[in-house]
Parts: sequence; structure tokens; C-alpha cells
Amino acid sequence: MEIFDPRVQHDFVNGIVEGKDVKISKKYYRDAKHFYLNPDASLADDTLMYQVYSYSEGNSEQVGNLNWGLTVLKPVSVNQECNMTRGHFHENLDCAEFYFGLGGEGLLLMMKEDGTCFAEKVFLNSLHHIDGSVAHRLINTGNEDLKVGACWPTIAGHDYERIEKHPFGARVFKKDDELVIEEDK
Ligand SMILES: [Fe+2]
Repeated sequence: MEIFDPRVQHDFVNGIVEGKDVKISKKYYRDAKHFYLNPDASLADDTLMYQVYSYSEGNSEQVGNLNWGLTVLKPVSVNQECNMTRGHFHENLDCAEFYFGLGGEGLLLMMKEDGTCFAEKVFLNSLHHIDGSVAHRLINTGNEDLKVGACWPTIAGHDYERIEKHPFGARVFKKDDELVIEEDK
């Protein structure tokens, strides 16, 4: 039998996924400022907010195929609001997802279809099962990169529009080094 080198390497400590078919997308402040309650005009548009590595093989429409991912969320705040990912529902609400903490400190904010929000703490070695019908967003509450791995079905899809129309009802701020959660009434 032949023995092959792996096609991809995930450096868990340094937060890098490398390989031929790995895609990297970067989110800059110019494209993220509308996430925040009070955009900060003093923050440069080209500030890197987070980057996402993703990797999969084969036909993405094939039921049973999987994506592998890593999000590295920078310790930036926007008028005291903690940096966060855009957040999404899955297009296919039958598709669950695993997240796992690889470094830093944060929250996994989730929202049920009825708008109820809840969160889990994220840290090195934390493991999170996200139900298929639950919207999810990562928030960096610490002072270093928040690194979170993920594995989910390729057919899950991302429904960002639903979050734009019905935003998460909770926001996370850090004021005088204390976390402050503000929830819609
Ligand atoms: Fe997801």
C-alpha cells in the first residue's frame, strides 16, 4: 500500500490551516461596521476583524460531505462592543455543527428561531454542539485572538439574510474590563 502525506495541516496552536484546497477569507472593518451598535469612525476601514479558513473535498452538494473550518477573531472592540463574527442560520436547518475552542476567550452566542438568545463560554478545549435550527455567532471577549475550529456538513449553507432581518437580541460590551451584556427588551 502507498502511504501519503496529509493534504492539509491544521496548526492548532498557531491558528493556521494550510493545504492546496484551503480557502481563506478575511473580514475587514469596512465590511463589518454595520454589525455594531455604534460604529467607531476612528477605526481604520482596513482593520482586520477576523479571518476564516475553510477546507472540504468533493461535491459540496453531496449529503454526508463535511467542511472543516477555523475562525481567528481579533481582540478589537468597536466603541466598547466586543468583536464578533457576522453570524448566521444554516440554510438547511437539519444540519448541526461542532465548534471547539483552540485559544483565547469568548462567547458563542446562539439564537433560537423564536428569538431566544443564549450563550456558551468559549476557551481552549471547550466543545460546542450547535443545533441545526440555532443561529450562531462568535464574540471575542478576551485580549488575544479567539481561535475556534468547526466541522459542519457542506449542505448546511449560510443564511446571513435572516440575521440581517432578525438580528441577535443580545450584544456584548467590555467596559472597564467588565463584560456587559445588553439584551433587547
Ligand atoms: Fe454554521
